[in-house]
Amino acid sequence: MPETSAIYPGSFDPITNGHVDIIERGLAVFDRVVVAVLKNPKKRPLFTTKERVRMIHDIFASKKEVEVRAFDGLLVDFARVQGTRVVIRGLRAVSDFEYEFQMALMNRSLAPDIETFFMMPSVNYTFLSSNVVREVASLGGSVDGLVPGPVARKLRDKLRGPKKVQIP
Ligand code: PNS
Repeated sequence: MPETSAIYPGSFDPITNGHVDIIERGLAVFDRVVVAVLKNPKKRPLFTTKERVRMIHDIFASKKEVEVRAFDGLLVDFARVQGTRVVIRGLRAVSDFEYEFQMALMNRSLAPDIETFFMMPSVNYTFLSSNVVREVASLGGSVDGLVPGPVARKLRDKLRGPKKVQIP
C-alpha cells in the first residue's frame, strides 16, 4: 500500500496540548504527518521560527512519522513540495468555522487536488489556543496541563524578562 501523508500547518506560537492532540489523531489516520510551521514575521511571534520548530521536534522526537518543517509562501505549494495532498486543520468550536471554511475554500480554489480534513480535538482542549496560553503566561498564570512541560518552561523563561528595579 502506498504511504499516506498529511500536512498540519499553523503558527504554533507556541504548540499547545490541543495541537499535540490533533497531531496524534492525524497519526492514527495517516502514515506520516508533516507539521508545517509558518514563518510569520508580520505577526511578530513570541517564539522565533527556529524555537517553534525545535519545540515541536523535541516533543515528537520518538515518532519518526512526524516531520517538522518551517514554511513561507502558499501552503498548497508547500504541501506539493512535501508530496502530500491532505491538509489537516483542527476545529474546536463553531467560532473557528468561518475562518477555516474561507481558508479551505481558498486553498481548494488555488489547488483543487488538495483536500482539507478537519479534526476535532479532545473536548478538554476546545477552549485552548496559543493566544490564550501566551496571555495567561504573560500575566504570571499557570499553563501546566495546557502545553507540554518543556513549552511551559520555555514560556516562563521567555516571559520572565529582566529584573525590575525596586523604587523605594
Ligand atoms: O495557526 P494559524 O495561525 O491559524 O495557521 C494559519 C495558517 C498557517 C494555516 C495560514 O495562515 C496559512 O496557510 N498561511 C500560508 C499562506 C497561504 O497559503 N494563504 C492562503 C490560504 S488563506
